[in-house]
Amino acid sequence: MQNIMSIETVSLNKDNTAVVIIDQTQLPYNIEMLELRTQEEVWKAIYLLQVRGAPAIGVAAAYGVYIGAREIETQSYEEFRIKFKQKKDYLASSRPTAVNLFWALNRMEKVVIDHADKSVQELKHLLLEEANEIKAEDIRVCRRIGENGLALLKDGDGILTHCNAGQLATVKYGTALSPIYVGLEKGYHFKVFTDETRPLLQGARLSAFELHSSGVDTTLICDNMASAVMKKGWVQAVLVGADRIAANGDAANKIGTSGVAILAKYYGIPFYVCAPLSTFDLNCKTGDDIHIEERSAEEVTEMWYKKRMAPEGVKVFNPAFDVTDHQNIAGIVTEYGVATAPFEKSICEMFSKRDKL
Ligand code: MRU
Repeated sequence: MQNIMSIETVSLNKDNTAVVIIDQTQLPYNIEMLELRTQEEVWKAIYLLQVRGAPAIGVAAAYGVYIGAREIETQSYEEFRIKFKQKKDYLASSRPTAVNLFWALNRMEKVVIDHADKSVQELKHLLLEEANEIKAEDIRVCRRIGENGLALLKDGDGILTHCNAGQLATVKYGTALSPIYVGLEKGYHFKVFTDETRPLLQGARLSAFELHSSGVDTTLICDNMASAVMKKGWVQAVLVGADRIAANGDAANKIGTSGVAILAKYYGIPFYVCAPLSTFDLNCKTGDDIHIEERSAEEVTEMWYKKRMAPEGVKVFNPAFDVTDHQNIAGIVTEYGVATAPFEKSICEMFSKRDKL
């Protein structure tokens, strides 16, 4: 079987006509690549979680809107700009919580807005360059998050993670798992506990898969075992990703994350959120302003393999994310360093350091 870590999670095919992704719904059974040739196919892949994880969704959307823009047949700048915005709005409707989706699409639209003097042909070329840069930046940024996060850890530490904020959630390295991969390169040995992450098992299917394939000491646990593992003294740090971080440091991430943070606080274990600046949304003052996606009841009533696990007709509540209160976060690891309380101030400082990496 092909080594998952040698494949980029999202890329463009050779003649720039399709977005190529690993179909994450097939993992860990099959490593199947999909070529998405229309914006509708990209929308569906994001919606169905064939490509998922905040940064990977951003890169897929940037390439998706480029694929859509290629199809716009006009020589008029005004017409191109209007049709581009329709395509951008369409892709933005695929999932609501991960702000990287909107961040990447806005960045692509800015290229169109800033170059009213260019021909449509030139605009299409500039859009391709911008999407390629968003992808390249993701790799550089995740590497920096890995280095900054590693500085918080000691060789031999036990690390607990929830959901998948690894390579599969980005183009390479991941956010929360990047310190583990950078550490592995430098000879560190971590013992990683990965929550299975109900209902869609991103921890079991994706994190356990990529960590184990990379040779990291990995132990899979059910979500309700985190407290037992912490109580035994096996966890020295918790590392998770984020889908959107508010100006006060409240962080939305996969459902169950906030409970892990509360447990970590109880046991005196530092809880770190690892995320690029593109995951911050300073328009959200607190986590209460973050729109939490709710997904279909079947994700809860039928296990991943579509075997019914609950009575027909029972009421189901299925939020895909929750918000971790900033008071339970020891630090937010970004490409510019680690933000700590008071977060309003340290997050502003991170943004003031921002430049091209
Ligand atoms: O529903 P998903 O699988 O897209 O949720 C993903 C997460 O919650 C990740 O932890 C988050 O996007 C950070 S990915 C670096």
